[in-house]
Amino acid sequence: MISLNIEKTGDLISKEAIAAYESSVKEAQVKLEKGTGLGNDFLGWLHLPSSITQAHLTELQTTAKLLREQCDVVVVAGIGGSYLGARAVIEALSNSFTWLQEKRESPIMIYAGHNIGEDYLHELTEFLKDKKFGVINISKSGTTTETALAFRLLKKQCEDQRGKAVAKQVIVAVTDAQKGAARVTADQEGYQTFVIPDNVGGRFSVLTPVGLLPIAVAGFDIERLVAGAADMEKACGSEVPFAENPAAIYAATRNELYKQGKKIEILVNYNPKLHYVNEWWKQLYGESEGKENKGIFPAAVDFSTDLHSMGQWIQEGERIIFETVISVENPNHTLTVPSDEANLDGLNFLAGKRVDEVNKMAELGTQLAHVDGGVPNMRIVIPELSEYSIGQLLYFFEKACGISGYLLGVNPFNQPGVEAYKKNMFALLNKPGYEEESKAIRARL
Ligand code: PA5
Repeated sequence: MISLNIEKTGDLISKEAIAAYESSVKEAQVKLEKGTGLGNDFLGWLHLPSSITQAHLTELQTTAKLLREQCDVVVVAGIGGSYLGARAVIEALSNSFTWLQEKRESPIMIYAGHNIGEDYLHELTEFLKDKKFGVINISKSGTTTETALAFRLLKKQCEDQRGKAVAKQVIVAVTDAQKGAARVTADQEGYQTFVIPDNVGGRFSVLTPVGLLPIAVAGFDIERLVAGAADMEKACGSEVPFAENPAAIYAATRNELYKQGKKIEILVNYNPKLHYVNEWWKQLYGESEGKENKGIFPAAVDFSTDLHSMGQWIQEGERIIFETVISVENPNHTLTVPSDEANLDGLNFLAGKRVDEVNKMAELGTQLAHVDGGVPNMRIVIPELSEYSIGQLLYFFEKACGISGYLLGVNPFNQPGVEAYKKNMFALLNKPGYEEESKAIRARL
């Protein structure tokens, strides 16, 4: 099981201060369980892992098999909660270099619909030109501009290259049961579809087909992923005593640090494969808590890489930060530093050691230095990068986020602030229905 250690949160946080959160955490848990808190129409994620049926997983695996058989490349089109979870899991579990090899067991997974970069989209269409590719179009609303724009291009290219009949088989939609343009298109074209439940918001949707389908297509075991999440659902359940509940302790500790003036939480990893777990986590906490002029700012770094860039700021910049480190206990491979007779690089003191031992000493040394520098540290240890552990990690963060948002006193399940840029963009692009806004915004320019 993954574990949480808050021993290194420094002098700022006493055991008593954390213990004092017991009743408010309980209250938050009751709100989640009974659906009496803010945003209670978006609690479908809470008991999702334990309610996923084998039949549902089999259906996903069957579609995944078909895409794997018919495609060398699968493009996942989606943005925010409709792509980050899948990418986080796929990149955490993938070999870093297989996609560059000619011979592969699984399709190359690439991503689109998460930006409006003309060069990116041009280069994507060029890359796909001679490829047998398929598309998973993911959008809950079915109307998100970034995703819809990319999908328009991908649909046309897929039909042109592979013919309408094959395109129908290799384009799959994950969207609302009824509404939105993605649903209309899928029904009209006869695509296979998977439904995103109404009561699961984007950033909590990784264990719905939004995440599970691409993860299965990439060749990973979604049954183990869900099993890990289900075990964590138990470990973080409302009946688990406060002191033994990792989600409760994490939520309480970060809120106490925030109260003490630590306005920025930096999620740290020491494994480059976790980069997109950082990205997923930033969205989960940023969109859930950053509202009403409140909320910890979620930042993230990849160490030791970023020790050579952000390390200076973290060690000696303004003391408004704390770190949450994700440490992977055991690598999946073994690599030992070779001995070198000439020792020109002076590295023989490392000869015979595992590379991971060097990494772990970088981690320990950094933790000590940062704590000395006034940066409270929490540490989450995951046994290894596997479907089961990652499933646990995802659910742990989701549950803690729900509790933490309620402790902060906000609705953790809405994102009203995301609309402001869209309104302006549609007004500037003269979208039908935005005539008044268009006039008003042009008057400001
Ligand atoms: O978490 C969220 O709700 C958002 O990040 C959405 O997932 C994102 O905006 C994409 O929305 P949609 O799935 O409707 O295209």
